[in-house]
Amino acid sequence: MNTKARKVMIIGSGNVGASAAYALLNQNICEELILVDLNKALVEGHVQDLSDAAAYMPGMMTISTRDASDCADVDIAVITVSGGALKPGQTRLDELTNTAKIVKSIVPQMMAGGFNGIFLIATNPCDIITWQVWKLSGLPANQVIGTGVWLDTTRLRRTLAQQLDIGAQSIDAFILGEHGDTQFPVWSHSSVYGSPIGSVYQRHTGKTLDREQLAEKVRKLGFEIYAGKGCTEYGIAGTIAEICRNIFTGSHRALAISCILQGEYGVRDVAIGVPAVLAQSGVQQIIELHLADDELAKFRHSASVIQANIARLP
Ligand code: LAC
Repeated sequence: MNTKARKVMIIGSGNVGASAAYALLNQNICEELILVDLNKALVEGHVQDLSDAAAYMPGMMTISTRDASDCADVDIAVITVSGGALKPGQTRLDELTNTAKIVKSIVPQMMAGGFNGIFLIATNPCDIITWQVWKLSGLPANQVIGTGVWLDTTRLRRTLAQQLDIGAQSIDAFILGEHGDTQFPVWSHSSVYGSPIGSVYQRHTGKTLDREQLAEKVRKLGFEIYAGKGCTEYGIAGTIAEICRNIFTGSHRALAISCILQGEYGVRDVAIGVPAVLAQSGVQQIIELHLADDELAKFRHSASVIQANIARLP
């Protein structure tokens, strides 16, 4: 029996980090949760509060706080730091300067501390920070993953599920590209058990699926939530938990996550949302889809926007 405790370090104890900790705990995804934050009173409060919650869980779970550099035994390090609130009209790309500075101060400390696990980046702009962590860490590309467009894919699936009265797990529809404004659904590969999503939609609703309206709705959902409650947290926390679960179980399931590309899809030197198979070693392989011409153009445009912002990294 594998007796090694599964250890997850969460860097940043804001809304996303705390919600991710609670999701990992409630879904029993790891045996040890280590929280990192500069605000010691906050992180200690979370440790005690989460320890109360852990007491109701079947297994023995340890919650603690450490310095980021104390990470040699950590399996997955989740980066959730934020450089500050977005102002109305701003995009995730506007967070780059502040978050990149924070990440630039943390990752070298962790590498000096002997980290050799998997980085999972939830911090925005996700794809650019995923690239930055890969460059700063020097780890193999398969060990540096961004949550990418898995949350967007889930938003697309749950929206279609509600419209079609079909469970989201049975809807094979997904998003590619930037976790941002240039993301796009891959309609050419969207189906329910092979039946094109447009046909299923027509049969169920008697109407034609307005693809662009649905794509726009999904693209804007994060901002809608943000406008209402000042953050998004539970959706991204669920995303983090699902990616960690697939890594720890070695599920070899393909999720649409942010990966480092070096030639796949005809692009290189970028981190971007693509279907990738997850194993205990991280990304086991990247799935290259045959995209329609318009989809390939959108993908390459998205990659170019990410590359242009990678150039802005400090
Ligand atoms: C969102 C944040 C995680 O889309 O970017 O909810």
